[in-house]
Amino acid sequence: MDASETDKGPYPYYMLKEIDEQPNVMRKLAALYTQESGKPNIDTGLINALNEADRIYIVGAGTSYHAGLVGKKMFEKLAHVPTEVHIASEFAYDDPLLSKKPFFIFLSQSGETADSREVLVNVNAHDYKSLTITNVENSTLFREATYTMLLHAGPEISVASTKAYTAQIAVEAILAKALGEAKEQTIAEDFDIRQQLGLVATGMQAIIDEKDMIEKLAKKYFVPAPRAFYIGRGIDQTVSLESALKLKEISYVQAEGFASGELKHGTIALIEEGTPVVGIITQEKTANLTRSNLQETMSRGASTFTIVRRSLALEDDTIIIPDVDEMITPLLSVVPAQLIAYFTSLNKGLDVDRPRNLAKSVTVE
Ligand code: AGP
Repeated sequence: MDASETDKGPYPYYMLKEIDEQPNVMRKLAALYTQESGKPNIDTGLINALNEADRIYIVGAGTSYHAGLVGKKMFEKLAHVPTEVHIASEFAYDDPLLSKKPFFIFLSQSGETADSREVLVNVNAHDYKSLTITNVENSTLFREATYTMLLHAGPEISVASTKAYTAQIAVEAILAKALGEAKEQTIAEDFDIRQQLGLVATGMQAIIDEKDMIEKLAKKYFVPAPRAFYIGRGIDQTVSLESALKLKEISYVQAEGFASGELKHGTIALIEEGTPVVGIITQEKTANLTRSNLQETMSRGASTFTIVRRSLALEDDTIIIPDVDEMITPLLSVVPAQLIAYFTSLNKGLDVDRPRNLAKSVTVE
Protein backbone atom coordinates (compact mmCIF):
# COMPACT_ATOMS: atom_id res chain seq x y z
CA MET A 1 0.00 0.00 0.00
CA ASP A 2 1.34 3.43 -0.95
CA ALA A 3 1.43 5.62 2.19
CA SER A 4 0.19 8.68 0.26
CA GLU A 5 -2.98 6.77 -0.62
CA THR A 6 -3.89 6.46 3.04
CA ASP A 7 -3.36 10.15 3.77
CA LYS A 8 -6.56 12.14 4.32
CA GLY A 9 -4.97 15.24 2.81
CA PRO A 10 -7.21 18.30 3.13
CA TYR A 11 -10.33 16.18 3.77
CA PRO A 12 -12.00 16.15 7.19
CA TYR A 13 -13.02 12.52 6.69
CA TYR A 14 -11.92 9.63 4.47
CA MET A 15 -15.48 9.13 3.26
CA LEU A 16 -15.53 12.46 1.43
CA LYS A 17 -12.09 11.77 -0.05
CA GLU A 18 -13.26 8.36 -1.22
CA ILE A 19 -16.43 9.79 -2.78
CA ASP A 20 -14.28 12.35 -4.60
CA GLU A 21 -11.94 9.64 -5.90
CA GLN A 22 -14.70 7.84 -7.79
CA PRO A 23 -14.31 9.61 -11.17
CA ASN A 24 -10.64 8.62 -11.24
CA VAL A 25 -11.42 5.03 -10.29
CA MET A 26 -13.82 4.85 -13.25
CA ARG A 27 -11.12 6.15 -15.63
CA LYS A 28 -8.59 3.74 -14.20
CA LEU A 29 -10.88 0.72 -14.62
CA ALA A 30 -11.68 1.71 -18.20
CA ALA A 31 -7.96 1.99 -18.95
CA LEU A 32 -7.05 -1.29 -17.25
CA TYR A 33 -9.92 -3.54 -18.28
CA THR A 34 -10.79 -2.25 -21.76
CA GLN A 35 -8.80 -1.68 -24.93
CA GLU A 36 -8.85 1.54 -26.93
CA SER A 37 -11.20 -0.16 -29.38
CA GLY A 38 -13.67 -0.49 -26.49
CA LYS A 39 -13.24 -4.29 -26.29
CA PRO A 40 -12.85 -5.72 -22.77
CA ASN A 41 -9.36 -6.65 -21.69
CA ILE A 42 -10.03 -9.63 -19.46
CA ASP A 43 -8.32 -12.99 -18.87
CA THR A 44 -9.62 -15.34 -21.57
CA GLY A 45 -9.47 -18.30 -19.17
CA LEU A 46 -11.99 -16.50 -16.96
CA ILE A 47 -14.30 -15.67 -19.87
CA ASN A 48 -14.16 -19.27 -21.13
CA ALA A 49 -15.01 -20.61 -17.69
CA LEU A 50 -17.89 -18.15 -17.35
CA ASN A 51 -19.08 -19.02 -20.83
CA GLU A 52 -19.44 -22.67 -19.84
CA ALA A 53 -21.73 -21.84 -16.92
CA ASP A 54 -25.49 -22.22 -17.19
CA ARG A 55 -26.11 -19.90 -14.23
CA ILE A 56 -24.16 -17.26 -12.33
CA TYR A 57 -24.39 -16.99 -8.56
CA ILE A 58 -23.25 -13.66 -7.13
CA VAL A 59 -22.47 -13.69 -3.41
CA GLY A 60 -21.79 -10.71 -1.14
CA ALA A 61 -22.72 -8.87 2.03
CA GLY A 62 -23.99 -5.35 2.68
CA THR A 63 -22.90 -2.91 0.00
CA SER A 64 -21.20 -5.66 -1.99
CA TYR A 65 -24.49 -7.56 -2.08
CA HIS A 66 -26.16 -4.41 -3.39
CA ALA A 67 -23.53 -4.14 -6.14
CA GLY A 68 -24.36 -7.76 -6.98
CA LEU A 69 -28.02 -6.85 -7.50
CA VAL A 70 -26.93 -4.40 -10.19
CA GLY A 71 -24.60 -7.05 -11.66
CA LYS A 72 -27.51 -9.47 -12.09
CA LYS A 73 -29.31 -7.00 -14.36
CA MET A 74 -26.19 -6.60 -16.50
CA PHE A 75 -25.33 -10.30 -16.83
CA GLU A 76 -28.90 -11.10 -17.77
CA LYS A 77 -29.25 -8.24 -20.23
CA LEU A 78 -25.84 -8.31 -21.93
CA ALA A 79 -25.01 -12.01 -21.75
CA HIS A 80 -28.47 -13.62 -21.34
CA VAL A 81 -27.20 -15.81 -18.51
CA PRO A 82 -29.64 -16.37 -15.63
CA THR A 83 -28.06 -14.83 -12.53
CA GLU A 84 -28.93 -15.14 -8.87
CA VAL A 85 -27.68 -12.82 -6.14
CA HIS A 86 -27.33 -14.10 -2.62
CA ILE A 87 -26.66 -12.63 0.79
CA ALA A 88 -23.56 -14.54 1.86
CA SER A 89 -24.71 -15.27 5.43
CA GLU A 90 -27.97 -16.76 4.14
CA PHE A 91 -26.55 -18.71 1.23
CA ALA A 92 -23.97 -20.54 3.31
CA TYR A 93 -26.61 -22.34 5.36
CA ASP A 94 -29.53 -22.53 2.96
CA ASP A 95 -28.75 -25.80 1.13
CA PRO A 96 -29.31 -24.05 -2.17
CA LEU A 97 -30.51 -25.99 -5.17
CA LEU A 98 -27.85 -25.23 -7.78
CA SER A 99 -27.93 -25.45 -11.55
CA LYS A 100 -25.86 -28.09 -13.38
CA LYS A 101 -22.96 -25.77 -14.20
CA PRO A 102 -22.86 -22.96 -11.68
CA PHE A 103 -20.22 -20.23 -11.64
CA PHE A 104 -19.74 -18.18 -8.50
CA ILE A 105 -18.79 -14.53 -8.30
CA PHE A 106 -17.73 -13.21 -4.90
CA LEU A 107 -17.92 -9.47 -4.40
CA SER A 108 -15.98 -8.14 -1.43
CA GLN A 109 -14.14 -4.87 -0.92
CA SER A 110 -11.95 -6.29 1.83
CA GLY A 111 -11.76 -9.88 0.59
CA GLU A 112 -12.00 -10.91 4.24
CA THR A 113 -15.72 -11.10 4.95
CA ALA A 114 -16.30 -14.30 6.91
CA ASP A 115 -19.87 -14.78 5.63
CA SER A 116 -18.66 -14.78 2.02
CA ARG A 117 -15.68 -16.97 2.83
CA GLU A 118 -17.94 -19.62 4.32
CA VAL A 119 -19.68 -19.89 0.94
CA LEU A 120 -16.37 -20.00 -0.93
CA VAL A 121 -15.12 -22.85 1.27
CA ASN A 122 -18.24 -24.84 0.27
CA VAL A 123 -17.86 -23.89 -3.38
CA ASN A 124 -14.26 -25.11 -3.38
CA ALA A 125 -15.25 -28.32 -1.61
CA HIS A 126 -17.51 -29.04 -4.60
CA ASP A 127 -14.86 -28.02 -7.15
CA TYR A 128 -17.04 -25.30 -8.63
CA LYS A 129 -15.29 -22.45 -10.41
CA SER A 130 -15.30 -19.01 -8.86
CA LEU A 131 -14.19 -15.44 -9.32
CA THR A 132 -13.45 -13.00 -6.53
CA ILE A 133 -13.78 -9.31 -7.35
CA THR A 134 -12.03 -7.47 -4.54
CA ASN A 135 -10.09 -4.35 -3.69
CA VAL A 136 -7.43 -6.19 -1.70
CA GLU A 137 -4.79 -8.26 -3.41
CA ASN A 138 -3.85 -11.43 -1.53
CA SER A 139 -6.85 -11.20 0.77
CA THR A 140 -8.45 -14.50 1.78
CA LEU A 141 -11.17 -14.46 -0.88
CA PHE A 142 -8.56 -13.42 -3.45
CA ARG A 143 -6.31 -16.34 -2.60
CA GLU A 144 -9.01 -18.99 -2.44
CA ALA A 145 -10.99 -18.31 -5.63
CA THR A 146 -10.22 -19.80 -9.04
CA TYR A 147 -10.03 -16.38 -10.73
CA THR A 148 -9.59 -12.86 -9.42
CA MET A 149 -10.19 -9.33 -10.58
CA LEU A 150 -9.01 -6.32 -8.61
CA LEU A 151 -11.10 -3.19 -8.11
CA HIS A 152 -8.07 -0.87 -8.23
CA ALA A 153 -9.98 1.65 -6.13
CA GLY A 154 -7.12 2.36 -3.74
CA PRO A 155 -7.50 1.72 0.00
CA GLU A 156 -11.04 2.30 1.28
CA ILE A 157 -10.69 3.32 4.89
CA SER A 158 -14.05 4.81 5.84
CA VAL A 159 -16.40 2.12 7.18
CA ALA A 160 -19.07 3.29 4.74
CA SER A 161 -18.22 1.76 1.39
CA THR A 162 -18.47 4.19 -1.54
CA LYS A 163 -15.81 3.83 -4.23
CA ALA A 164 -15.76 0.04 -3.84
CA TYR A 165 -19.50 -0.11 -4.71
CA THR A 166 -19.08 1.89 -7.90
CA ALA A 167 -15.88 0.03 -8.82
CA GLN A 168 -17.65 -3.32 -8.34
CA ILE A 169 -20.46 -2.23 -10.67
CA ALA A 170 -18.00 -0.97 -13.29
CA VAL A 171 -16.05 -4.26 -13.22
CA GLU A 172 -19.28 -6.27 -13.44
CA ALA A 173 -20.34 -4.17 -16.46
CA ILE A 174 -17.05 -4.87 -18.26
CA LEU A 175 -17.27 -8.55 -17.40
CA ALA A 176 -20.90 -8.83 -18.53
CA LYS A 177 -19.98 -7.18 -21.81
CA ALA A 178 -17.06 -9.57 -22.30
CA LEU A 179 -19.31 -12.56 -21.62
CA GLY A 180 -22.04 -11.18 -23.88
CA GLU A 181 -19.49 -10.75 -26.67
CA ALA A 182 -18.27 -14.33 -26.17
CA LYS A 183 -21.89 -15.37 -26.63
CA GLU A 184 -22.20 -13.13 -29.71
CA GLN A 185 -24.99 -11.06 -28.22
CA THR A 186 -25.50 -7.97 -30.35
CA ILE A 187 -26.55 -5.91 -27.34
CA ALA A 188 -23.16 -6.60 -25.73
CA GLU A 189 -21.24 -5.87 -28.91
CA ASP A 190 -23.04 -2.52 -29.22
CA PHE A 191 -22.47 -1.54 -25.59
CA ASP A 192 -19.42 0.73 -25.53
CA ILE A 193 -18.42 0.36 -21.91
CA ARG A 194 -15.18 2.29 -22.33
CA GLN A 195 -17.02 5.34 -23.64
CA GLN A 196 -19.76 4.92 -21.00
CA LEU A 197 -17.24 4.85 -18.15
CA GLY A 198 -15.77 8.09 -19.52
CA LEU A 199 -19.24 9.66 -19.40
CA VAL A 200 -19.74 8.26 -15.89
CA ALA A 201 -16.48 9.83 -14.68
CA THR A 202 -17.47 13.25 -15.99
CA GLY A 203 -20.99 12.82 -14.63
CA MET A 204 -19.75 11.84 -11.17
CA GLN A 205 -17.61 14.96 -11.09
CA ALA A 206 -20.60 17.14 -12.02
CA ILE A 207 -22.60 15.65 -9.12
CA ILE A 208 -19.70 16.02 -6.69
CA ASP A 209 -19.48 19.68 -7.71
CA GLU A 210 -23.04 20.10 -6.38
CA LYS A 211 -21.91 19.22 -2.83
CA ASP A 212 -22.97 22.53 -1.29
CA MET A 213 -26.54 22.16 -2.52
CA ILE A 214 -26.66 18.56 -1.26
CA GLU A 215 -25.31 19.60 2.14
CA LYS A 216 -28.08 22.22 2.49
CA LEU A 217 -30.67 19.60 1.69
CA ALA A 218 -29.18 17.11 4.16
CA LYS A 219 -29.01 19.72 6.91
CA LYS A 220 -32.57 20.90 6.48
CA TYR A 221 -34.42 17.65 5.91
CA PHE A 222 -32.32 14.62 6.93
CA VAL A 223 -30.55 15.83 10.07
CA PRO A 224 -33.82 16.36 12.00
CA ALA A 225 -35.54 13.25 10.62
CA PRO A 226 -35.97 10.11 12.73
CA ARG A 227 -36.53 8.07 9.57
CA ALA A 228 -36.27 8.38 5.79
CA PHE A 229 -37.02 6.39 2.66
CA TYR A 230 -35.44 5.88 -0.73
CA ILE A 231 -37.73 4.43 -3.37
CA GLY A 232 -37.38 3.23 -6.95
CA ARG A 233 -38.20 0.45 -9.36
CA GLY A 234 -35.98 -2.12 -11.05
CA ILE A 235 -32.35 -1.08 -10.99
CA ASP A 236 -33.35 2.08 -9.11
CA GLN A 237 -34.75 -0.09 -6.34
CA THR A 238 -31.35 -1.73 -5.89
CA VAL A 239 -29.79 1.73 -5.55
CA SER A 240 -32.47 2.66 -3.02
CA LEU A 241 -31.27 -0.25 -0.84
CA GLU A 242 -27.68 0.97 -0.99
CA SER A 243 -28.70 4.60 -0.41
CA ALA A 244 -30.65 3.67 2.71
CA LEU A 245 -27.78 1.54 4.03
CA LYS A 246 -25.37 4.48 3.61
CA LEU A 247 -27.68 6.82 5.47
CA LYS A 248 -28.47 4.51 8.36
CA GLU A 249 -24.96 3.24 9.03
CA ILE A 250 -23.31 6.63 9.44
CA SER A 251 -26.11 9.04 10.43
CA TYR A 252 -28.28 6.67 12.51
CA VAL A 253 -31.40 7.85 10.67
CA GLN A 254 -33.61 4.79 10.35
CA ALA A 255 -33.69 4.44 6.61
CA GLU A 256 -35.32 1.96 4.27
CA GLY A 257 -34.88 1.38 0.57
CA PHE A 258 -38.05 0.27 -1.07
CA ALA A 259 -39.61 -0.94 -4.30
CA SER A 260 -41.77 2.13 -4.86
CA GLY A 261 -44.83 0.07 -5.81
CA GLU A 262 -44.69 -1.80 -2.49
CA LEU A 263 -45.03 1.31 -0.32
CA LYS A 264 -48.80 1.37 -0.54
CA HIS A 265 -48.95 -2.25 0.60
CA GLY A 266 -47.99 -1.33 4.13
CA THR A 267 -45.00 0.90 4.63
CA ILE A 268 -46.75 4.11 3.64
CA ALA A 269 -48.29 3.99 7.13
CA LEU A 270 -44.93 5.20 8.44
CA ILE A 271 -45.02 8.44 6.46
CA GLU A 272 -45.57 11.46 8.69
CA GLU A 273 -45.33 15.21 8.25
CA GLY A 274 -41.79 15.94 7.01
CA THR A 275 -40.58 12.33 6.53
CA PRO A 276 -37.96 12.57 3.77
CA VAL A 277 -38.69 10.32 0.79
CA VAL A 278 -36.26 10.28 -2.15
CA GLY A 279 -37.40 8.85 -5.48
CA ILE A 280 -34.64 7.49 -7.72
CA ILE A 281 -35.78 7.83 -11.33
CA THR A 282 -33.44 6.71 -14.11
CA GLN A 283 -35.50 4.19 -16.09
CA GLU A 284 -37.83 5.42 -18.78
CA LYS A 285 -40.25 2.50 -18.40
CA THR A 286 -40.96 3.14 -14.73
CA ALA A 287 -40.29 6.86 -14.29
CA ASN A 288 -43.93 7.91 -14.16
CA LEU A 289 -44.86 5.08 -11.81
CA THR A 290 -42.23 6.09 -9.27
CA ARG A 291 -43.30 9.71 -9.65
CA SER A 292 -46.88 8.80 -8.78
CA ASN A 293 -45.73 6.68 -5.80
CA LEU A 294 -43.75 9.69 -4.62
CA GLN A 295 -46.84 11.84 -5.01
CA GLU A 296 -48.76 9.42 -2.78
CA THR A 297 -46.22 9.96 0.01
CA MET A 298 -46.29 13.71 -0.53
CA SER A 299 -50.04 13.83 -0.03
CA ARG A 300 -49.45 12.11 3.35
CA GLY A 301 -47.06 14.88 4.40
CA ALA A 302 -43.68 13.54 3.22
CA SER A 303 -40.94 15.92 2.12
CA THR A 304 -40.14 14.45 -1.29
CA PHE A 305 -36.98 14.68 -3.38
CA THR A 306 -35.88 13.21 -6.67
CA ILE A 307 -32.61 11.93 -8.14
CA VAL A 308 -33.40 11.91 -11.85
CA ARG A 309 -31.62 11.14 -15.09
CA ARG A 310 -31.43 14.28 -17.20
CA SER A 311 -33.53 13.06 -20.14
CA LEU A 312 -36.36 12.14 -17.73
CA ALA A 313 -36.15 15.33 -15.66
CA LEU A 314 -39.04 17.71 -15.00
CA GLU A 315 -38.94 21.27 -13.76
CA ASP A 316 -39.27 20.58 -10.04
CA ASP A 317 -36.76 17.73 -9.77
CA THR A 318 -34.16 18.02 -7.01
CA ILE A 319 -30.94 16.42 -8.27
CA ILE A 320 -30.36 15.85 -11.96
CA ILE A 321 -27.78 13.27 -12.94
CA PRO A 322 -26.20 13.24 -16.41
CA ASP A 323 -27.40 10.78 -19.05
CA VAL A 324 -25.59 7.46 -19.36
CA ASP A 325 -26.80 4.04 -20.54
CA GLU A 326 -29.79 2.94 -18.43
CA MET A 327 -27.92 -0.19 -17.32
CA ILE A 328 -25.18 1.70 -15.51
CA THR A 329 -27.14 4.60 -13.99
CA PRO A 330 -26.42 3.27 -10.44
CA LEU A 331 -22.86 4.54 -10.93
CA LEU A 332 -24.31 8.05 -10.89
CA SER A 333 -27.57 7.85 -8.95
CA VAL A 334 -25.78 6.54 -5.85
CA VAL A 335 -23.43 9.54 -5.62
CA PRO A 336 -25.99 12.08 -4.33
CA ALA A 337 -27.15 9.47 -1.80
CA GLN A 338 -23.55 8.97 -0.60
CA LEU A 339 -23.28 12.74 -0.17
CA ILE A 340 -26.63 13.00 1.64
CA ALA A 341 -25.44 10.33 4.09
CA TYR A 342 -22.06 12.03 4.54
CA PHE A 343 -23.49 15.49 5.20
CA THR A 344 -26.23 14.20 7.48
CA SER A 345 -23.65 12.44 9.64
CA LEU A 346 -21.27 15.42 9.54
CA ASN A 347 -23.97 17.90 10.53
CA LYS A 348 -25.10 15.67 13.40
CA GLY A 349 -21.55 15.90 14.72
CA LEU A 350 -20.95 12.15 14.35
CA ASP A 351 -17.72 10.37 13.51
CA VAL A 352 -18.42 9.83 9.82
CA ASP A 353 -15.65 7.31 9.21
CA ARG A 354 -16.13 5.25 12.33
CA PRO A 355 -19.81 4.75 13.05
CA ARG A 356 -20.76 3.03 16.27
CA ASN A 357 -20.93 -0.78 16.46
CA LEU A 358 -19.38 -1.31 13.02
CA ALA A 359 -16.04 -2.59 11.75
CA LYS A 360 -14.56 -2.06 8.29
CA SER A 361 -14.14 -5.73 7.65
CA VAL A 362 -16.39 -8.26 9.27
CA THR A 363 -14.30 -11.33 9.94
CA VAL A 364 -16.79 -13.21 12.12
CA GLU A 365 -19.98 -14.90 10.99
C1 AGP B 1 -21.00 -0.79 3.67
O1 AGP B 1 -20.97 0.57 3.79
C2 AGP B 1 -20.61 -1.58 4.82
N1 AGP B 1 -19.48 -1.13 5.47
C3 AGP B 1 -20.78 -3.08 4.70
O2 AGP B 1 -22.09 -3.34 4.33
C4 AGP B 1 -19.83 -3.86 3.74
O3 AGP B 1 -20.14 -3.59 2.42
C5 AGP B 1 -19.97 -5.37 4.04
O4 AGP B 1 -19.56 -5.62 5.36
C6 AGP B 1 -19.21 -6.22 3.08
O5 AGP B 1 -17.84 -5.99 3.13
P1 AGP B 1 -16.88 -6.47 2.00
O6 AGP B 1 -17.26 -5.78 0.73
O7 AGP B 1 -15.51 -6.08 2.48
O8 AGP B 1 -17.05 -7.96 1.88
